[in-house]
Amino acid sequence: MNSGSQQPIGIFDSGIGGLTVANAVSKLLPQEQIIYFGDTAHVPYGDKSKELIRSYATTITDFLLNKKKCKAVVIACNTASAAAYEVLRDTYKGIVPVINVIDPMIEAVIADDEIKKVGVIATKTTIASGVYREKFSRRKPSLQYTELATPLLASMIEEKFYNNDISHAVIENYLSDEVLKGIDALVLACTHYPLIKKEISNLYKQQVKIFDSAEVVAQKLKWILEKEGLAAEKKAEKDIFYVSDFTESFARTTNIFYGKEIHLELCNIWKNT
Ligand code: DGL
Repeated sequence: MNSGSQQPIGIFDSGIGGLTVANAVSKLLPQEQIIYFGDTAHVPYGDKSKELIRSYATTITDFLLNKKKCKAVVIACNTASAAAYEVLRDTYKGIVPVINVIDPMIEAVIADDEIKKVGVIATKTTIASGVYREKFSRRKPSLQYTELATPLLASMIEEKFYNNDISHAVIENYLSDEVLKGIDALVLACTHYPLIKKEISNLYKQQVKIFDSAEVVAQKLKWILEKEGLAAEKKAEKDIFYVSDFTESFARTTNIFYGKEIHLELCNIWKNT
């Protein structure tokens, strides 16, 4: 065991969608303290430039590591992972593990030899980054790949439109796009999409394998903590959930992503920068 093992795990997202990942982590690793940071002052990241997202992600990571003394950081946001993972990984190499939500999903898909054609749906910035295309083609060139930006989905879910006729129509409209024809697996490359996983699976009549980041990322984190001797023995303190801007609506929405309502603490890390 490492001397830092009782330190918390930092998890951040553009907003509260990353709570799907935090929830999977807290279920798999209940002995770990989580410090979550939702950048609600800047949400959504999905249509912002790579440079801007990188600067937000760098400031948040600095806060989690230097102010909150986290032992590992999870970028629980596909858009931020696409824009900022390499920079953060290289900056903190040999100091703390930085985990993104993209690589664990790529690993899960390429390990399944039944999958011949995979599709990815995500925000505009994630798709425009080309990160999934590049990683799949480098790691498994034989795999056919296709992708589609689905920008309406995240805001639709945040407004609690899921499992109803409207969400059904929007999802069906996206999934019937010509580019997704013939896929046998679909990657839900956005932290909000686990909430519509069932609807998507039903639309495909369970004939397409659906991958989302929450559980695979929690598993990857567990593996890294154990490998690095950083796994906590018992929970040191209770979890903390920070947001950079607070509204009642964010507070009310936490339960759809975390399974229960949680207390959000306002923490504007940009105030003095
Ligand atoms: N968290 C973002 C993601 O996983 C979705 C919401 C946003 O656009 O900020 O891509």
